[in-house]
Amino acid sequence: MSFSLLSAAASGEGATPAWAMLAYLVAGVFFILALRGLSSPATSRAGNRNGMIGMAIAVVTTLIMHGTNLVEIGIAIAIGAILGVTIARRIAMTAMPELVAGFHSLVGLAAVVVGLAAWLNPAAFGITDAAGQINAVSRVELGLGIAIGAITFSGSVIAFLKLSGRMSGSPIMLPGRHVINLGTLAAILVLIGLYTVSPEGGAGEGWMVIAVTALAFAIGFLLIIPIGGADMPVVVSMLNSYSGWAAAAMGFTLGNSAMIITGALVGSSGAILSYIMCRAMNRSFISVIAGGFGAAPEAGGAGAREQRPYKQGSAEDAAYMLEQAESVIIIPGYGMAVAQAQHALREMGDKLREKGVSVKYAIHPVAGRMPGHMNVLLAEASVPYDEVFELEDINSEFAQADVAFIIGANDVVNPAAKTDKSSPIYGMPVFDVDKAKQVFFIKRSMGGVGYAGVDNDVFYMNQTVMLLADAKKMVEEIVKSLD
Ligand code: TAP
Repeated sequence: MSFSLLSAAASGEGATPAWAMLAYLVAGVFFILALRGLSSPATSRAGNRNGMIGMAIAVVTTLIMHGTNLVEIGIAIAIGAILGVTIARRIAMTAMPELVAGFHSLVGLAAVVVGLAAWLNPAAFGITDAAGQINAVSRVELGLGIAIGAITFSGSVIAFLKLSGRMSGSPIMLPGRHVINLGTLAAILVLIGLYTVSPEGGAGEGWMVIAVTALAFAIGFLLIIPIGGADMPVVVSMLNSYSGWAAAAMGFTLGNSAMIITGALVGSSGAILSYIMCRAMNRSFISVIAGGFGAAPEAGGAGAREQRPYKQGSAEDAAYMLEQAESVIIIPGYGMAVAQAQHALREMGDKLREKGVSVKYAIHPVAGRMPGHMNVLLAEASVPYDEVFELEDINSEFAQADVAFIIGANDVVNPAAKTDKSSPIYGMPVFDVDKAKQVFFIKRSMGGVGYAGVDNDVFYMNQTVMLLADAKKMVEEIVKSLD
């Protein structure tokens, strides 16, 4: 995502030599291969490698083409690389969404800085007409690029603060926020229009660009504060998409094909990812960006829960039943990530397999709090990819399974999504765990609810045994009992 802007910073003339066009095209092909590779855990390393090769080609091409001061650039790259490697090594897997949001704010800021640089020194960026003025089309592209970049910056900073717990994750609802937001967006568009038609150097031109920048920073902030912390992954991917389009707009202005290609790739992949996440959560995109989800307890949510009888079991009970089973399907969720129980879980899976039990892992597209959250954690614990199944590939197997072993998941196994029209998760595809002969459900207490805040009938089913404890501790005890 940040690659497009990096190569942009040094670019800046209309006529790109043929060899550089070819190199940019090759970089673009590597970026496409990177996206292709990242679509499956098995090929994601190769995907990452292809992205890095493409990025290196784009950066080196830009540096050679512009004869930039290599010492200065080298020092800047070294500082960035040291910071990047240090942060990437230290970050916990569960903090990945906030890291992406934090880095992402820099992409937005880079778009603003490139736009302002082009505005202040248009000749160096090759966007002037015969009379030496910035041409009208470039003005539109500059205005939009700066505005989208600024929205991405301030929006991502708020997303980072919410996800990292430095700011309350609950939605902050300003009175009349829709009117304020629409008014501010309209003002930004009007100002970009005025800037496009204003005579070059005319009174107020500088103020228009500065006002667009300031209003866009403000609207990024206003748009994101009403959105609850748990919706942030959708927002981060949406902001990612915006920045891609901002980069593509700048690419047209600067005549840089690498920026156009990568901007379009980032813009469209971010938009597709936001759409997939919304669909898997059964939320409309508009309802996510309108904000407010999780502001008050939902009907039937934690506050309204009645006391119902349930069975509670111990690690020994679970170990005994698991050994007796022929087939076990494990459904991990957000709680497994919080407890970091994936290594203990893999150990449990291995032990069961040694005892002749068939073990499969079932992953819901929105289990956890970010796309691929469970896949990454299971891969980190070296769970083989061929034991991991997507929702649509495994859901029909619950009817034949002896045990559904739910560890820290909740919403993704809630049958209310299939039956209760008033439920906030109604319509979300969920695992049919209620069809398994026996269900083990690990969570810390009966009081805790998942992201959507709704009670779950699975807790109270006849065949369900609640294992109330921290997920890692409980699985470690089960592993001990399996010895
Ligand atoms: P949730 O429904 O959020 O349930 C998490 C469960 O984990 C809770 O029941 C909680 O109960 C338990 N838990 C928390 N910490 C635990 C620990 N240390 N040990 C044991 N259990 C623990 O999780 P899910 O089923 O993965 O569903 C994900 C939800 O997030 C969906 O509603 C989805 O729409 C939403 N969402 C997902 C994404 C992406 S992209 N993945 C993005 C935004 C929103 P206790 O508190 O009682 O322990």
